[in-house]
Amino acid sequence: MTTTTTRTTTALDITDVTLTYPDGTSRLTALDRVSLHVTGGSVAAITGPSGSGKSSLLATAATLIRPDSGHITLQTPTGTTDLATLTRREAATLRRSSIGIVFQQPNLIPALTALEQLEVMTHLGQRTFTSAKQRRETHTKATELLESVGLADQHSKRPAQLSGGQRQRVNIARALMNNPSLLVIDEPPSALDTERGAAIIDLILTVARNHHAATLLVTHDQTHLHRMNAVYQMVDGHLTQTTPATS
Ligand SMILES: Nc1ncnc2c1ncn2[C@@H]1O[C@H](COP(=O)(O)OP(=O)(O)OP(=O)(O)O)[C@@H](O)[C@H]1O
Ligand SMILES: [Mg+2]
Repeated sequence: MTTTTTRTTTALDITDVTLTYPDGTSRLTALDRVSLHVTGGSVAAITGPSGSGKSSLLATAATLIRPDSGHITLQTPTGTTDLATLTRREAATLRRSSIGIVFQQPNLIPALTALEQLEVMTHLGQRTFTSAKQRRETHTKATELLESVGLADQHSKRPAQLSGGQRQRVNIARALMNNPSLLVIDEPPSALDTERGAAIIDLILTVARNHHAATLLVTHDQTHLHRMNAVYQMVDGHLTQTTPATS
């Protein structure tokens, strides 16, 4: 019973969000009254041409950019927060506890091994000394997550020694270190071959379900859209749902 309750209480609701950027003497509207709903364990795919506002939407949902207006409600098992009104400091705290972010550009730290890329997430922003017990727990969790993305035998490799697809898997595993309620993934415009692209989509669908994260996925690959819980298209900052949502 408890598990069922937890599953149904995670959701992201974006309502009427508008975002503009400074553009010379005027402003460019990147998001124009965008609305979207995604529940925990579901993946909402976002497609659309280059420059249409997809990454801006993800950055706004992930609290990296504050919108000009609108509401972004994140419901987690511990409460409900309007992400559009957080201060920078509150946003940073929430990101550490509840949001997993996978950027369009892989941003792994060159000097760290795959395992260390994950471990470092737990220690970021901590003001107190981490105990040996905490370090062991972090190590175990990082090892398990790398295993779950199929990289059990690659954990001591540094980014330069990994393939593009493997680096992407490390990115996804790293985003799961804080058990996020919200996962945002900005897929690179297919640098991967079809087979590896399909494997990454499988992985994203599986992690969203297993971790009950409400997931926003920007994808450039049309072939997997039928497997998503909902598909949206962004054109010039306007978002429309192109398929009915399934759970
Ligand atoms: N920091 C910024 N300052 C000003 N304009 C920006 C900024 N970031 C993005 N833009 C502009 O906002 C619009 C939307 O950009 P965004 O990065 O969201 O597009 P996108 O759909 O993710 O494109 P792509 O598929 O190429 O990644 C574009 O016109 C872009 O030039
Ligand atoms: Mg983008």
